[in-house]
Amino acid sequence: MMAEKIYDFRSDTVTRPTKAMRALMAAAEVGDDVYQDDPTVNALQEKSAKLLGKESALFVTSGTMGNLLAALAYCQRGDEVIMGEKGHTFLHEAGGVSALGGVVIHTVPNQADGTLSLVDLEKALRNEDIHEPISRLVILENTQNACGGMALSVDYTNKVAAFAREHKLAFHIDGARVFNAAVNLGVPASELVAQADSVTFCLSKGLCCPVGSVLCGTHDFIERARRLRKMLGGGMRQAGILAAAGIYALDHMVERLEEDHQRASMLAKGLAGIRGLSLAKGSPYTNMVFVNVQNESRLTSSELVEKLLNNGILVNESGRNELRFVTHHDVGDDAVEACLKVLHTLL
Ligand SMILES: Cc1ncc(COP(=O)(O)O)c(C=O)c1O
Repeated sequence: MMAEKIYDFRSDTVTRPTKAMRALMAAAEVGDDVYQDDPTVNALQEKSAKLLGKESALFVTSGTMGNLLAALAYCQRGDEVIMGEKGHTFLHEAGGVSALGGVVIHTVPNQADGTLSLVDLEKALRNEDIHEPISRLVILENTQNACGGMALSVDYTNKVAAFAREHKLAFHIDGARVFNAAVNLGVPASELVAQADSVTFCLSKGLCCPVGSVLCGTHDFIERARRLRKMLGGGMRQAGILAAAGIYALDHMVERLEEDHQRASMLAKGLAGIRGLSLAKGSPYTNMVFVNVQNESRLTSSELVEKLLNNGILVNESGRNELRFVTHHDVGDDAVEACLKVLHTLL
C-alpha cells in the first residue's frame, strides 16, 4: 500500500523546477545554439564563467558529460587520469572516459574527509617510460559525494593545484555540488576553483533545474570541449528554454542551499537517536546524511528501503548496510518529521 504523500530523499536530482523558474523558461528568447545563436544559452555561459572566475563556459547536458568532455579535451588515448577511488567519474559515469576516450583511470584512496593525500598523488605519477601510460590529469570532486558530501577547502584544493602544476598535469574539479561546498564553507565558489584549470557544476541537482550542467575553463579548452560535445551528440539547438532555468537558479537557488544543509543536520540528529541506526561518514557535512544499519537493527538496509517506500519515504541504499538521505528544495521540515516518525515506528 502506497502512502498518500511521497517524500523523496533519494537524491537532490529529483528536484523539480519551481513556478518562477518555469515562467522564465517559458519566456526565454532562443536561437540555434550549435550556431551559438541562442542568447539565453550565451547569457548562462557568460554568467557561469564570471561566477566561477573562468574565461569561458559551455552548457552541457549533464555532469557526466561535463566531466567526460574535460577528460577528452585534456587527454589522448593511453593517457592517465589520477582521481579518488570514490570519485563519481570513476564509479558512476559508466566508464565513459575509458570507453570513449581510451583514457586510463588511476585511482588513489579517498581519505575519510574526502581528500586525496598528496603522498598518494605523488606515488600515482608515472615515470617517463614507454611501458607506462602518461599522467595527464588530476580530478577532485567537491563536494565529495561518496565521502558524505564533504566540502574540500580552498587551502587543500590549492595544494592539489600546486602539485598538478609542478608535474605539468591538468587539474579538473567535478563541482557537481560546488555551490553546496561554497555555502558550507562560506567562500565564493570562484575561490574554491580559482587554481583549477576547469570545473563542471550541475544545475539539475540542488539548484532545481530540469536539465543541465556547465563546464568552465579557458577559451581554448572550452572551444575544444565544444567540438567534442558536438561529436558526442550533445550539440543542442533552442536550448535557451533550459538555460533560462539555469540563470534563474544561479540568481535565486544558491543561497537557499544552506536550508538544505540545516535540514540535513536536523534529520541526522533524529536518525542518530533511532535504535539500530548510527551516523556514517561524518554525516552531515552538507545536504547528505549517511547511516549504518547496525546488526542489531530489526530490519536490514534493503528491508528498510522497502518498508520506507511503503510509507511514502524514498531513500537509496548506498552500500552494504548503509542508507543515504539527501535533503533538497522539495523536502521540507514536514518530510524530515515524517521520515523520522516512520523510522521510529519501524525500528
Ligand atoms: C559528484 C557528482 N558528479 C557528477 C555527477 C553526474 O551528474 P549527472 O547525473 O548530471 O550526469 C553526479 C550525479 O549525481 C555527482 O553526484
